[in-house]
Amino acid sequence: MDVPDTVATALDDRPVTGRRCLEAGAGMGNATAGLLANGAARVYAVTNDRDHARTTRRRVADSGGDGSGGDGSDRDNDADRLAVLEADLRSIPLPDGSVELITAHGLCNVLDPAALTAVAEELSRVAAPGAHLVVDDYDPLPDGAAIGELFAVENAASELARCRPALTFYPAAFLRRFFAGHNWEFDRERTLLEPVPWTESHVSAHADEAASMAAECPGEAGDALSATARGLATEIGSESVGRMYSLAFRRPG
Ligand SMILES: C[S@@+](CC[C@H](N)C(=O)[O-])C[C@H]1O[C@@H](n2cnc3c(N)ncnc32)[C@H](O)[C@@H]1O
Repeated sequence: MDVPDTVATALDDRPVTGRRCLEAGAGMGNATAGLLANGAARVYAVTNDRDHARTTRRRVADSGGDGSGGDGSDRDNDADRLAVLEADLRSIPLPDGSVELITAHGLCNVLDPAALTAVAEELSRVAAPGAHLVVDDYDPLPDGAAIGELFAVENAASELARCRPALTFYPAAFLRRFFAGHNWEFDRERTLLEPVPWTESHVSAHADEAASMAAECPGEAGDALSATARGLATEIGSESVGRMYSLAFRRPG
């Protein structure tokens, strides 16, 4: 199974082998792939998006992983070690203290501050004493980043349609203090990408997302936001800017 470099770098100093792990916000299952490849005993991949749940299941099933991880060990098949749970992270269907390593890879930027707080409380509840937490995310974009304008349009459409932002880029220093406030001891910080390569497909996916939320907005505002998002995507094409970081924490034993 292909494991992105960002996930491999974030996990390479974490004790994954034999652990019960949670990927919080499974998306395309990138961290799930990394956890399975690193010998997790069990991976719970949680997402509230049905398509993402399906993609993560398929990705693991299609990899036909024999569990050897290439290191000759005799692990169970990848699919047998995975449970994809379609659920809200603000109410995780797992018992207290049941997981030993949690990843939030690219999750926090899609959580507004209220959701971030509720999710952090749940991650803390399901973490076993001594558990590890890996939070990988993006610093706020520097002034002048063209893609920042597209994200601003996406947020404007989301605010109008749903009364909340689509994206919030939390500085590493903020999340470090935030999780410390939820009783997670800070362990280390790493840079995963600098600059971040926002490819044409990322840019057009964000324009699509902005346009689909703009379609929910009443009146002319929606049409204007949609046209602006499409225009910006064409203008930008792709852009390399900003930083993706990895923070690691430990729950007191
Ligand atoms: C940007 S993707 C994360 C990428 C993924 N970790 C990866 O490495 O491929 C964010 C994921 O979090 C999920 N998500 C966002 N808010 C959520 C919530 N409140 N409960 C459950 N899943 C949520 C989204 O549906 C999506 O699957």
